[in-house]
Amino acid sequence: MRVQVGIIGGGPSGLLLSQLLHLQGIETIVLERRERAYVLGRIRAGVLEQGLVAMLREAKVAERMEAEGELHEGFDIAFGGRRHRIDLAGHTNGAAVMVYGQTEITRDLYDARDAMGGLIVHEAVDVTPHDFDSDAPYLTYRKDGREHRIDCDFIAGCDGFHGASRKSIPTSALKEYERVYPFGWLGVLSETPPASDELIYSNHERGFALCSMRSRSLSRYYVQVLVDEKLDEWPDERFWDELRMRLPEETAQSLVTGVSIEKSIAPLRSFVAEPMRHGRLLLAGDAAHIVPPTGAKGLNLAASDIYFLSRGLIDYYRTGDESGLASYSQKALDRVWKAERFSWWMTELLHRFQDRGPFAARIQRAELDYLVKSSAAMAALAENYVGLPYE
Ligand code: FAD
Ligand code: PHB
Repeated sequence: MRVQVGIIGGGPSGLLLSQLLHLQGIETIVLERRERAYVLGRIRAGVLEQGLVAMLREAKVAERMEAEGELHEGFDIAFGGRRHRIDLAGHTNGAAVMVYGQTEITRDLYDARDAMGGLIVHEAVDVTPHDFDSDAPYLTYRKDGREHRIDCDFIAGCDGFHGASRKSIPTSALKEYERVYPFGWLGVLSETPPASDELIYSNHERGFALCSMRSRSLSRYYVQVLVDEKLDEWPDERFWDELRMRLPEETAQSLVTGVSIEKSIAPLRSFVAEPMRHGRLLLAGDAAHIVPPTGAKGLNLAASDIYFLSRGLIDYYRTGDESGLASYSQKALDRVWKAERFSWWMTELLHRFQDRGPFAARIQRAELDYLVKSSAAMAALAENYVGLPYE
């Protein structure tokens, strides 16, 4: 079989790319290792920048998000027993973020792909990119015990951090940068009303906590935990007690708790692999970079990668102009590194680093005090949180 662009990975990056290209008449196939129900069961990001919102509109998958998503013009930072509002809109000429779950975006993308007859193979085993340093790359995989081969012009590696595409690149051709944090986030989803109308990021001696949401009746909470913590040591009651302790008293008192419908621990990592293009293999999203979730940038970076990549491919097929593909890696990485910096900074600002001692804790507190009183500092935070331009 032959397509123009072979896509590895059916997460948001792969599905969005496939949808945008199909709308321009470019043929793709998406090869996904897992079954669809598994992909749709994963609870991940929930905060979308305007750039991603615009991409979903362009991909004609924005209808449900427009109806059910919520625009947020600010969020709170809590420390020292008080909440301080960061006025995103006020510091950015009216910009806001959209609260709408990654799970819902993935569902909308699958529905749109199905409606257009998009080719998606689930449970594709041992997907392997070949000959991407030549003009005739191809993909192989197994499905139901049978071997398959897909010839294509380009391969998009959208298969996440543990995927096959980045690993198929010779290590001598990749430069990797990594920071692993000594803690993770324990996340709980519950069918309860959110703690507040907007998100609350809380810095506390016991560790970081985040109150987020998916809707007015579905809440998402996180607490910082040690990276080797076991899920079965966190029954719901312990989670809610710990969360309450890390919130200002008034917020803790009014918190509505319930049965968790999902609970998981995610490690925190910063990672970038450069460059993002190797011949005719182009990496995008988590396959090329990871940010700690504190700045809510992971999914948003996947979207900006797909913005640059889709334009590069569309120009190539429309006019033969290869300049967009030639500059893809550099353009994407310029934005990736700024989001890496911001996510690292927000992580440092809000988490408890046990190994760092009292001096570091006082410096962190001074930075928080400064931030919530300085219009310039809040503007810098707001500008990054709502998302830097795609340029
Ligand atoms: P993914 O969503 O990882 O999709 C990659 C797809 O490729 C998957 O469906 C996978 O099954 C498939 N795949 C993997 N290997 C292969 C293979 N060999 N062959 C074929 N298919 C393969 N971001 C935030 O902004 N906020 C958050 O709260 C947040 N929480 C997160 C929690 C967790 C546990 C994780 C892992 C990530 C979280 N992120 C969060 C990050 C955000 O979800 C990702 O940045 C986003 O999913 C990236 O999309 P992607 O399509 O590039 O990668
Ligand atoms: C979430 O709702 O899952 C979420 C929100 C903001 C973040 C991280 C995760 O910074």
